[in-house]
Amino acid sequence: MNLQQHISLKSYNTFGIVADAEYFFELNSVAELKDVFLSAETQSIPKLVLGGGSNILLTGDFKGLVLKINLKGIEIIKEDADHVWVRAGAGEKWHDLVMWCIDKDLAGIENLSLIPGNTGAAPMQNIGAYGVELKDTFEELEAFNTIELKTERFSKEACSFGYRESVFKRKLKGQYIITSITLKLNKRPVFNISYGAIEQELKKMGVEQLSIKAISQAVMNIRRSKLPDPAILGNAGSFFKNPELPLAQVEKLQVTFPGLVAYPASTGNMKVAAGWLIEQCGWKGRRVGNTGSHKDQALVLVNYGGATGKEIYDLAMQIQQSVREKYNITIEPEVNVV
Ligand code: EPU
Repeated sequence: MNLQQHISLKSYNTFGIVADAEYFFELNSVAELKDVFLSAETQSIPKLVLGGGSNILLTGDFKGLVLKINLKGIEIIKEDADHVWVRAGAGEKWHDLVMWCIDKDLAGIENLSLIPGNTGAAPMQNIGAYGVELKDTFEELEAFNTIELKTERFSKEACSFGYRESVFKRKLKGQYIITSITLKLNKRPVFNISYGAIEQELKKMGVEQLSIKAISQAVMNIRRSKLPDPAILGNAGSFFKNPELPLAQVEKLQVTFPGLVAYPASTGNMKVAAGWLIEQCGWKGRRVGNTGSHKDQALVLVNYGGATGKEIYDLAMQIQQSVREKYNITIEPEVNVV
């Protein structure tokens, strides 16, 4: 086993936090997982599974084994008149998979263009953007059971997807390592341009004939205009989730705060724009030491360079506190704090 020691994780997390892994192992095949969980060296030490590192905040060195998932491969496994089933290794970059599908005219994930991170992390939190979630095209996944040391399949139902939620973040947390996912894509596209900004962007681009390529381009333009590129400014996308509240509570709040941005969630509750709440509390664009809330998207916390995970976490807790004081709403982190 090619086990490395004292490896810097700076380039493995999009916040660009300086932290070390005590042990580090790059996993290139599913077969190696058994070695990792059976070897005397690594069997009983804490493990951190790392995909693209785009949804994690490291608050210190990791005293244990960081398992970097490098499982590759994208292939068509089944096809019928209307659909194509595509399986992708957990270590493939999500955006590369999106581009691969668009290139083959396979529709369904074009709205999820440019989401950072790896394919294996996508079902963890049921990634979503611009009116589409992973679950909409998800068929099944394979995951390694770290207790029974065998690979198992999970159907869509078994994953219990919700808003930025799955069974892997809840009941089965830490028990499984996702090794591949299978999506069911459409040969005949069903365009989703319900998210206002997409329509505006398509108009701006002068698109007359709608296509998955045009939607993907529109999404990329919107993301690039609002969300900082982690290669330039460290960040992990939205730091908090948009809180879901009962309609009655939102209506009551809107009496005092008429500008409050909220829209219906699939659960019947209302989803409140956390970015708006944070902006109203005066955090948008505000820098605190080496960190701050981004100038174009208050929900995104950034590392201006040299920030520690603790510094970013402290800022997040201050923001959470001020939103609670002003609106009596608790915004929960979306990012995994380690
Ligand atoms: N808003 C503000 N101020 C801000 C930011 C947002 O007032 O600084 C208000 C605006 O009214 C805006 C509304 O909030 O219209 C919604 O903002 P935006 O369209 O940017 O979306 P979001 O709710 O802030 C969510 C996802 C993003 C995803 C976008 C687009 C979450 C936690 N975040 O953000 O996902 O890209 O929608 O679908 O659900 C991520 O998860 O890392 C992520 C970036």
